[in-house]
Amino acid sequence: MTSSTAPRPLRSAPPKSPFSGHFRVAGDKSISHRALMFGALAIGTTEIEGLLEGEDVLRTAAAMRLLGASVEHLGPGSWRVAGRGIGGLTEPADVLDMGNSGTAARLICGLLAGHPIFAVMTGDASLRRRPMKRVTDPLAATGAAFWYRDGGRLPLAVKGAATPLPLDYTLPVASAQVKSACLLAGLCARGTTRVIEPEATRDHTENMLRHFGATVRVAHHGHGRVIELVGQPELTAAPVVVPGDPSSAAFLAVAALLVPGSRIVIEHVGLNPLRAGIFDTLNEMGAGIVVQNPRLEGGEPVGDLLVESRPLHGITVPAERAPSMIDEYPILAVAAAAARGPTRMLGLKELRVKESDRLSATAALLQAAGVAVAIEGDDMIVQGGTPQGGGTVVTHMDHRIAMSGLVLGLAARDGMAVDDGAFIDTSFPGFAALMNRAAGADVVVPA
Ligand code: S3P
Repeated sequence: MTSSTAPRPLRSAPPKSPFSGHFRVAGDKSISHRALMFGALAIGTTEIEGLLEGEDVLRTAAAMRLLGASVEHLGPGSWRVAGRGIGGLTEPADVLDMGNSGTAARLICGLLAGHPIFAVMTGDASLRRRPMKRVTDPLAATGAAFWYRDGGRLPLAVKGAATPLPLDYTLPVASAQVKSACLLAGLCARGTTRVIEPEATRDHTENMLRHFGATVRVAHHGHGRVIELVGQPELTAAPVVVPGDPSSAAFLAVAALLVPGSRIVIEHVGLNPLRAGIFDTLNEMGAGIVVQNPRLEGGEPVGDLLVESRPLHGITVPAERAPSMIDEYPILAVAAAAARGPTRMLGLKELRVKESDRLSATAALLQAAGVAVAIEGDDMIVQGGTPQGGGTVVTHMDHRIAMSGLVLGLAARDGMAVDDGAFIDTSFPGFAALMNRAAGADVVVPA
């Protein structure tokens, strides 16, 4: 897997002809993780279609097997999970290795807290740098015990609670991972678990809990929400169709916006309003992205995106929008670099604890292309224009920095290189092939 493979340098250059055609991107990463986890906790057999077969999600599949669920791969995107029922996970005989995936690590901590079993978890060098106390601190109130490295880093060990207590927790940061970890622990607790989030974050956990038969109450609370989950529900297996990942679609959309004359349709994209902030932001910049055939699938809004190349202009992106596009700032910064005038992106503190310090990594990415960028506190200001390019992006084991660098190369006069594209496989296997198909030529190639 990525943590042990050799670096894969890649480069990209402006295509000779525009992007055109109809495309699908890989399945939604957040929903894919959750489908496997809820399948493992449900009674019965859950059939999943469109599962993202990226390395992050494959780590979750392997962890669910180690915890006693049966997880079968039936064909491309098609998976079957036979669950153990709430409280039915069994002690893993080996270390749970979550690779590069913060979502897998943090959500599974929630699952483990509610089961009276001992487990050890680790990850790759990027994940071992990321903070885990944001989940282990609240989860300790269930009665679970955690041991971890200095600063709350992986590897960690957990002894779950025999009779887990329900949590009543106010999130100090807007984080769907922390919210979800608390709710997953709450499934095993007697009584009602309550999580208050200061700002609304992606609600795939709440949606899927309901889909599997749990009682979840959600009330508005200022900019945020209060979520209540009634503990120890009977989760019943239910089919899941995973929509295309809006975070992956954003790379293709920005590529089409920046390559003159392009016109593409990205089909079956998840458009949950708590995820789709990037498309609203690009439209404010003049993108004119149109949603065709809006529909609901498995409780999630889905649509087809028509994207045509357009001149973009700089805007100010308010801090309140960050939770709905938290993973999209690197690719937004690329769009901003090719826009007219400055773009100010406010309130980006959380970017410092992603797969890399994404705030610095994004600024460095643009600087490698000769773009003027400043970080002022938690804000990033990008001066738009026509990027010169010609540099090499340091990806820091971060898939989104790698893909953003390659999209920038499609719009930069001299193209761009990235030092390691291997981590793209964590979220978007087939990224380079899809870009090449859209361009009708090899525009993303080994360096
Ligand atoms: C995710 C939540 C977000 C996001 C991550 C996926 C999830 O992380 O960045 O890629 O699936 O819950 P935070 O909870 O740290 O904001």
